Amino acid sequence: MKIGRVTVSDRASAGIYEDRSGPEIERVLREAFGQEATFLAVVVPDEVERISATLRQLADGERCDLIVTTGGTGIGERDVTPEATRAVLARELPGFGEIMRAQSFAYVRTAILSRATAGTRGTSLIVNLPGKPTAVAECLEILAPAIREGVAHLQGIDVHS
Ligand code: MTE
Repeated sequence: MKIGRVTVSDRASAGIYEDRSGPEIERVLREAFGQEATFLAVVVPDEVERISATLRQLADGERCDLIVTTGGTGIGERDVTPEATRAVLARELPGFGEIMRAQSFAYVRTAILSRATAGTRGTSLIVNLPGKPTAVAECLEILAPAIREGVAHLQGIDVHS
């Protein structure tokens, strides 16, 4: 499994603070999917074009099975990850955002401030997560079964046989 992880943050991309949520994606997914997963790590500023171009490159160029973003899903002026993601999706999977918000609401009442979405592009599954490392772990644990099955579907594997 080839996984692209994209940290969307003006400050992390400028080196003002260390990216902790990207490595957290890797830690949780290694636990969920085993050591055979290989990761491509990218850190980009909160700019629609930069984010969309990164997602296109990871999907079409690198042919990642899974691409996970962290950050930029809120309602701050520079939060544009959902827009940049939607711009490259072939098909949207609204259930990812819906269940993340519903389940995360049990941890933090502010979870409904996330506009995260997900979907497919070619054979890549693309999933937005919030920016906080704790939120990354909480959300990935909720989404892991659907990610596993979604990736298999996109590879053409009949998961029911
Ligand atoms: N979801 C979980 N599980 N845990 C959290 O701490 N933080 C919320 C929300 N979702 C949070 C969460 C907050 S405070 C915001 S503003 C939104 O995610 C968007 O976060 P982002 O702007 O870093 O993407």
